[in-house]
Amino acid sequence: PEIITVQELANRMAERGADVIKQLMRLGVMATINQSIDADTAELVVQEFGHRFKRVSDSDVEIGLEGEVDHDDHLEPRAPVVTVMGHVDHGKTSLLDALRSTDVAAGEAGGITQHIGAYQVKLSTGQKITFLDTPGHEAFTAMRARGAKATDIVVLVVAADDGIMPQTIEAIRHARAANVPMVVAINKIDKPDANPNKVRQALLQHEVIVEELGGEVQAIEVSAKSRVGLDKLEEAILLQAEILELRANPDRDAAGVVIEAKLDRGRGPVATVLVQKGTLKIGDIFVAGGEWGKVRALIDDHGKQRPSAGPSEPVEVLGLTGAPAAGDEFQVVESEVRAREVTAFRQRRTKEQRGVTVARASLEQMFSKI
Ligand code: GTP
Ligand code: MG
Repeated sequence: PEIITVQELANRMAERGADVIKQLMRLGVMATINQSIDADTAELVVQEFGHRFKRVSDSDVEIGLEGEVDHDDHLEPRAPVVTVMGHVDHGKTSLLDALRSTDVAAGEAGGITQHIGAYQVKLSTGQKITFLDTPGHEAFTAMRARGAKATDIVVLVVAADDGIMPQTIEAIRHARAANVPMVVAINKIDKPDANPNKVRQALLQHEVIVEELGGEVQAIEVSAKSRVGLDKLEEAILLQAEILELRANPDRDAAGVVIEAKLDRGRGPVATVLVQKGTLKIGDIFVAGGEWGKVRALIDDHGKQRPSAGPSEPVEVLGLTGAPAAGDEFQVVESEVRAREVTAFRQRRTKEQRGVTVARASLEQMFSKI
C-alpha cells in the first residue's frame, strides 16, 4: 500500500522534491511530486540519500539519520528561536545588542564576551530566548530553502522614521513563506521624526495587521538607542512563543542546524550550530552537510566551555573535518564509520550535481558557438 507522498518524503529527509523524483527514476519508478509510494520504495530512496528508515506503523514511517521517534511524553518545553530581520540600518544589530544587555548571565560573565552569530538571553524571570544574529538573514534563507524550521518567530524591525522599505517587504515574504509568526519591533522611536502609527498603517498594505488595528500581530515600540520597550518586546516574544507550545526531547542524540561556519587559523573548522532536539555532548560523532566531526569542545555565547548543549541552545563546535555551509543540518550518528559513509555519499552526490551543471553549461556553450 502507498503510505507517503514524494513531497512528504522529501520534506522528512530535508531533500529537494526534484532530487527524490530523480532517485525514484533511477530505481525505475516514475512518480510525480504529489503521488504516493509504498514503504519498500520509500525505504530504498531513503537509504540512497544516506538516511535511516523506520516503520512506525503500517501507515507511517520515521525518517532520519538516527530515526529515533520522539514520543509526546519525552518532549520538554524549550526556548523560542528568534530571527531578527528588516531593512538595512533599521537597527537590527543595535536591537540585538540592547536585548543582549538584558541577559542576566551577561552581567555575570562580565558583559558581552564573544560574537558567535547566535546567542541566548536569560531573563530575570528565568525564561530564555535564543536570538539569531547576523548573518541570521543568510542562514534563515538557506534554512527556508531546505524546508527546515529553525526559526520559531521572526522579529521584524522597522525604523519608525523610515517606515516600510524594500527589505522590510522581503522579510515579510520570508516569514510568510516559512510559515513563521511575526512580532513587529517599531524601532528608533526616540527620533523626532518617528511615526509609529504610520508604520502600523503601512503594514496593512502588506497584510500585516497589528493588534491596534484589529489584527493579531503584536507591534512593540522600541528604541535600541535609549533602551525603551525592550522588556515589552521580550514579553511579546514570550507570549507568541507560548502559543506555539515549543517542545523538544532533550534525551536523544542531538540534531539541529548550522548557523555559520568558518575555518579558524588556530582552531581549525568551527561551526556555530543551533541544537534543535537532543543534547550535543563532547565526544559525540556527527555529520553536518558534507562534513563530519567528533565534538572536541563546545563553547557557548559567553565564551565558556560547556560539556553539552540542549534544545534551542546555540554553541560553537570544534572538531570538524571541514567547514559545513550555513543552513546545513547536523545530526549525531552512532559511529565514525557511519559518519564517513554519509558524508562520502553526500559529497559524491554534490559532485554528481556539479557534473550535471558543468555538462549542461558546456552544451550551452557549444550551441552558442554554432
Ligand atoms: P544592517 O545590518 O546594515 O542591515 O543594519 P542594522 O539593521 O543592523 O542597523 P544597525 O543596528 O547597524 O543601526 C543602523 C544605525 O541606526 C546605527 O547608526 C545605529 O546607531 C542607529 N540606530 C539603531 N537603533 C536606533 C534607535 O533606536 N534610535 C536611533 N536614534 N538610532 C538607532
Ligand atoms: Mg546589522
